Amino acid sequence: MHHRPKQRKKRDENKSNPKTIAVLTSGGDAPGMNAALRSVVRYGIGNRCQVFGIIRGYRGLLATNLSENTCQLLSLSSVANIIQRGGTILRTDRCEEFFYSKYRKLAAAFLRQRGMDGLIVIGGDGSFTGAHLLENETGFPTLGIPATIDNDIYGSEDSIGFDTAVNTAIDAIDRIRDTASSHERIFLVEVMGRSSGHIALKVGMGGGAETIIVPEVKESIQSICQTIQRGVARGKTGSIIVVAEGPKPGLSNRISTALARHGFVSRVCILGHIQRGGAPTAHDRTLASVLGAQAVKNLLLGRSNAMVGMQDNKVICSDFSKNLGRRKRLSHDEYALTKILAT
Ligand code: F6P
Repeated sequence: MHHRPKQRKKRDENKSNPKTIAVLTSGGDAPGMNAALRSVVRYGIGNRCQVFGIIRGYRGLLATNLSENTCQLLSLSSVANIIQRGGTILRTDRCEEFFYSKYRKLAAAFLRQRGMDGLIVIGGDGSFTGAHLLENETGFPTLGIPATIDNDIYGSEDSIGFDTAVNTAIDAIDRIRDTASSHERIFLVEVMGRSSGHIALKVGMGGGAETIIVPEVKESIQSICQTIQRGVARGKTGSIIVVAEGPKPGLSNRISTALARHGFVSRVCILGHIQRGGAPTAHDRTLASVLGAQAVKNLLLGRSNAMVGMQDNKVICSDFSKNLGRRKRLSHDEYALTKILAT
């Protein structure tokens, strides 16, 4: 009998049909979004795809006026010289209409009318929820690339923009520490993070903060006062308290008022959107380049309704349904360590 050698099915993106891919950035911008876009475009074109950039996030998919030109063919040179730029050249938006199925259907029609085969979404978990619902309801393939300074996306240990934001905040803290110790003052430095303390924890640890206030852990005013007092007793010249903004930004002002009632005068510095801007760090540029290419690769292999991400330092691709709606935990070991090191 003649045995034919078993033909292994090649799962190689080069062998698949060329695809037309749409890409958008959505939600709060994050340094490194441009580097991710560059990677999607260049890796896509390298694999015989056409790549279209959608302007203004999901809002660009709802544009009815053709003159708005929110779906633009991108070339290799469209993404030249952007790897080092913060923000997003595609612009972004928090599109409230996308909470409604009616608009998601319009978006799918927009993409299909223009011959798109898949949509890559560079953004955070709100944007991924939009992509997940879009695919569930209309069958239009979507793939997510995690990009948010908050680093709160379940299913990926890292997210584009986080490293840059943390380094920006640490740079600010180093400066604040100079003036805090000169004046022997207490400073409350508020960083972003409405429902997660990932930025605060990294910034607090890297900046050597005396106390870190995060939404995940309850901390009483009494215990903050005790930490300050301990510092004073052993001759500390200043105190830095890092505060995650929490659901209502301005929390550091409220804590400052409470400290004053206990006899501690403090200064407040809210870093705000400074953390969102600026050139991405080498780490974020690399992460964005790797995840951008992996997103295209997975889409070409037929994966969708999923996100790429990092786990145990390896790139993974996991279904949105496994991750969305789940809360990424703060490292309690790291949090405990910051308490020990701050003594
Ligand atoms: O994108 C995440 C984030 O920067 C959060 O850290 C912050 O709470 C929020 O966005 C601010 O949103 P906006 O851009 O609407 O001011």
